[in-house]
Amino acid sequence: MGNRHAQPHEQIETHDPMTFVVPPQLEAEIDERITHYPQKRSASLMLLHALQEHFGFLPKEAIEWTARKLEVQPIHMHELVTFYPMFRQEPVGKYVIKVCRTLSCALGGSKQLHEHFCSKLGLDAHGHGIQTTKDGRFSVEFVECLASCGTAPVMMCNEDFYEGVSHAKADAILADCKNK
Ligand code: FES
Repeated sequence: MGNRHAQPHEQIETHDPMTFVVPPQLEAEIDERITHYPQKRSASLMLLHALQEHFGFLPKEAIEWTARKLEVQPIHMHELVTFYPMFRQEPVGKYVIKVCRTLSCALGGSKQLHEHFCSKLGLDAHGHGIQTTKDGRFSVEFVECLASCGTAPVMMCNEDFYEGVSHAKADAILADCKNK
């Protein structure tokens, strides 16, 4: 079981530009990190990750903000966001549960584990893409190999990593989130 405890990201509710405000402290950190790159543009992925970590997803205002910050055209940022599957353009739950579906985990019962989470949370296990509860607390999705194939089935809840996840362990993870 992982022991890194990330703070659940903050959420912004709409794509209204008025709600997209990068806090001064985060902007200062970003500005400092950009100085480590030979060209501003090379900091694109770092910056997108930083904004997604803070907001939970990347609305178009985040893409435009990033482009202005790095002095590139927004289309370049948009291409990155749509190319890399780890970037999200829609809001997700406060807790994002990622269940590995690659071979070892599939053989170890990850499909049933995913269904178990969906069933517990009232989500459609067969729906397309990430599924989010109506109250915005939980999202559940399948992901590809999380690089711990020998301890299947493997999953993450935000930044916490869990191995050999039984249904009972899944219930404990959910209960832990609900009690926070
Ligand atoms: S197959 Fe699941 S961690 Fe590699």
